[in-house]
Amino acid sequence: MTKPLKPQSNAMLKRAHENMPLGVADSYRYWGEENTVFLSSMKGCTITDCDQQTFVDFRLAYGPIILGYRDERVDNEVINAITSVGTISGFSTGLDSDVVELVKSLCPNIDKMRFANSGTEAVIGAVRTARGFTKRNKIVVVEGGFHGLHDEVMWKSDVDNWEITDENAPEIIPFGAGIPQSTREHQVSVPLNDFKAIDTVFAEHGHDIAAILIEPIMGNCGSIASTQAYMQKLRDTCDTNGSLLIMDEVKTGFRVAKGGAQALYGIYADLTTYAKAMGNGYPIAAFGGKANVMDAISFAKDGVTHGGTYTANMVALSAAKATLTVLKETDALETIATVGQKIQALLSRVFTKFDIEHCFAGPDAMFGVHFGSEVPQNYRDWKKTNSDLYTQFALNLIDNGVMLEPDSREPWFICEAHQTVDLKWLEQVAEQSMSAAINAQ
Ligand SMILES: Cc1ncc(COP(=O)(O)O)c(C=O)c1O
Repeated sequence: MTKPLKPQSNAMLKRAHENMPLGVADSYRYWGEENTVFLSSMKGCTITDCDQQTFVDFRLAYGPIILGYRDERVDNEVINAITSVGTISGFSTGLDSDVVELVKSLCPNIDKMRFANSGTEAVIGAVRTARGFTKRNKIVVVEGGFHGLHDEVMWKSDVDNWEITDENAPEIIPFGAGIPQSTREHQVSVPLNDFKAIDTVFAEHGHDIAAILIEPIMGNCGSIASTQAYMQKLRDTCDTNGSLLIMDEVKTGFRVAKGGAQALYGIYADLTTYAKAMGNGYPIAAFGGKANVMDAISFAKDGVTHGGTYTANMVALSAAKATLTVLKETDALETIATVGQKIQALLSRVFTKFDIEHCFAGPDAMFGVHFGSEVPQNYRDWKKTNSDLYTQFALNLIDNGVMLEPDSREPWFICEAHQTVDLKWLEQVAEQSMSAAINAQ
């Protein structure tokens, strides 16, 4: 397998190094001096880089693209809104309620909502509301979960530097410099699907636990999912303890089902965060929940403050209205699930051909691929999988026109436009990529 030359991309990176740390606008976009990607265009389920290599994209900007890049049903609505109404004014329009009512028609757990510009902001808003409502401080988070780049949730379980044979839990470390130790004070971390850990944490800190904050299906940890029983345990524990259950559906919302992961479990949160699939790539996010909880946001002396200059701007809201309308009124999510199933089936044929133990985690619209005999039940289990082989396989796929994150903690994202992919071609490329990965070991 030959690696394509990237003279234009490399030149762009050289220029960008003069302008941005690491030469990128988001540190996770830096893939090294030879592999950092610079695009010239995107359409449907494909992206084309500056060196004219086109990829079928299963990364989809980490999940927001649910219909396809440059979907005209969404883009036309945005163009219409900004040319006929405007972008922002610092006042409200009827579009605010249009979008909330659409969300409410899809997600029965939502009575009231507030908007945000990113998943990070939505989580900040939900956590603050939970604290304001409960008058408590502590937030329980799950190892391997990701809730955005704000200091308080930028503490992670260092599973990379932990061995499966270690008796002690992985160390909790900050994402990097600049995160004060004080931001760790109100956070407690538990492994997913561990009932005992939840009991222990609530026995010790229950009186001060404002909320459990969880991705029901960990979109940042190979789609490793909460079991039905564990989700029920969290719901019951919160109810008994007067704590709130916050489900972070930034990745799963409007993707894994019209009503998100909660519709799959039939278990509902007090507060939910949404973002990515809500706007097919436009920067929209939101958090919402029960009316009595959301009404903690008020001008009362002990009320919660929420807002922001760009909140509920016309670009974001018109995109959300168009995207949610398509998701509500068409069978786009069924199409996505069917394509996801076919792709898992073809990958499975390839892995079986090479005698590779494998399993898939999570739903068809965002599935994790793990090289191991059992679906991981939590982040520590992920360490048992052969993630190095996965990375080599993924890098070979990229060289051959299939884009994905070369880390098995990031799932494969499917959009409606993937229904046009030539699956025979994909299977062939997967086979070549796996053969080369095995030879490289
Ligand atoms: C579950 C979850 N929460 C929050 C965030 C943060 O979202 P954003 O990058 O839009 O700030 C992400 C981003 O990947 C996410 O996956």
